[in-house]
Amino acid sequence: MTGLAARIRELDAADPLRGFRGEFLLPQHGGRDQVYFVGNSLGLQPRAARAHVQEVLDKWAGEAVEGHFSGDTAWMEYHRLVREPLARLVGAQPLEVVAMNTLTVNLHLMLASFYRPEGARTRVLMEAGAFPSDRHAIESQIRLRGLDPAECLVELEPDEPNGTLSMAAIEQAIATHGARLALVLWPGVQYRTGQAFDLGRIAALAHAQGAVAGFDLAHAVGNLPLALHDDGADFAVWCHYKYVNAGPGAVAGCFVHERHANAGLPRMAGWWGHEASTRFHMAPEFVPAAGAEGWQLSNPPVLALAPLRASLEQFDRAGGMAALRDKSLRITGLLEELIRGRLSDVLQIVTPAEPQRRGAQLSLRVLAGREQGRALFEHLRSHGILGDWREPDVIRISPAPLYNRYADVLALVEEVERWRAG
Ligand SMILES: Cc1ncc(COP(=O)(O)O)c(C=O)c1O
Repeated sequence: MTGLAARIRELDAADPLRGFRGEFLLPQHGGRDQVYFVGNSLGLQPRAARAHVQEVLDKWAGEAVEGHFSGDTAWMEYHRLVREPLARLVGAQPLEVVAMNTLTVNLHLMLASFYRPEGARTRVLMEAGAFPSDRHAIESQIRLRGLDPAECLVELEPDEPNGTLSMAAIEQAIATHGARLALVLWPGVQYRTGQAFDLGRIAALAHAQGAVAGFDLAHAVGNLPLALHDDGADFAVWCHYKYVNAGPGAVAGCFVHERHANAGLPRMAGWWGHEASTRFHMAPEFVPAAGAEGWQLSNPPVLALAPLRASLEQFDRAGGMAALRDKSLRITGLLEELIRGRLSDVLQIVTPAEPQRRGAQLSLRVLAGREQGRALFEHLRSHGILGDWREPDVIRISPAPLYNRYADVLALVEEVERWRAG
């Protein structure tokens, strides 16, 4: 065994999270577990998800409408079953979070309340190259207010060589638009480059100019430790199908800071956002529930929430984000070390080198260009190693600390070497 193979074997043997891999269903390739690096797109299925869904189906079969009211998992309050673990995951108070809808829907709900253009203060600052759905949401909200996106939407271009953004550039943009800025909408982790941002700093800069700070945490939740309450975010939205492993199209998450909990903000309202103790009085007036739950529209999608319970229980049992981040730093660090040391003629790492400026994902530009990049991507896939492809020439690889092994990283690197050798 080579020194490296022995070192990797030791890392896996000493990994405090090693037991979690067996709690997931791994896709099979040629009779072996696929080497799956796509937790940044769709996390693997925890075995416990099926039991949680089955429990709902059984309750529906056996109790029908009475399932809304009976037992510890009564559907009326089902969304509450994930509230506390979710709050722990994102560094919030339980009052500040709710699982509901899907990401883009939640973004619209938040923009309806928090994008409040007034006088000269009409602009929204976001990054150029943001995930298209975020841009569509913002642009359409600007138009809904009768305003012009050409005037109100400010998109900050990357100022660093690999398409990443310096904090200085963000700071300068916020200062430049100052009193004209209504909202700063920023990602926790950029989906294409894998760059992570200092959310507390961005929130403070936005607030210093009198603007609101909102975050899209699709690629940050379950990936990085978050402290939304202390960072002072006004709102945040995210999905649970990536690093949180709650399944395709899973119910999304939403954070509203405590300071807005009882502020009576205007909103798009529905009956499930009505204060719970009087909801069934069926009165015509809307009295919002305190906190993030006051933005719910409909009764909870119980079948869709069930797998999220299974996932969040795993995060708690694993020791929360601190434990996951500890392994994530090591496993992504190993990937970086091996690419720099052995594959620098094939792959260029686009993601920032400083660990505090990235999460699990490394975005790898194939130096030989698109054609060769696609060929490498297909070669890996046909050998049971899955990353994902982003045009024109990037392969994204995201080791997930709950189910990836250090040996997976070595398998990837060795397969790229075999491809290079032709
Ligand atoms: C950063 C970001 N924003 C928004 C979305 C859209 O999510 P949804 O289809 O759940 O609304 C995604 C989906 O991957 C995303 O990565």
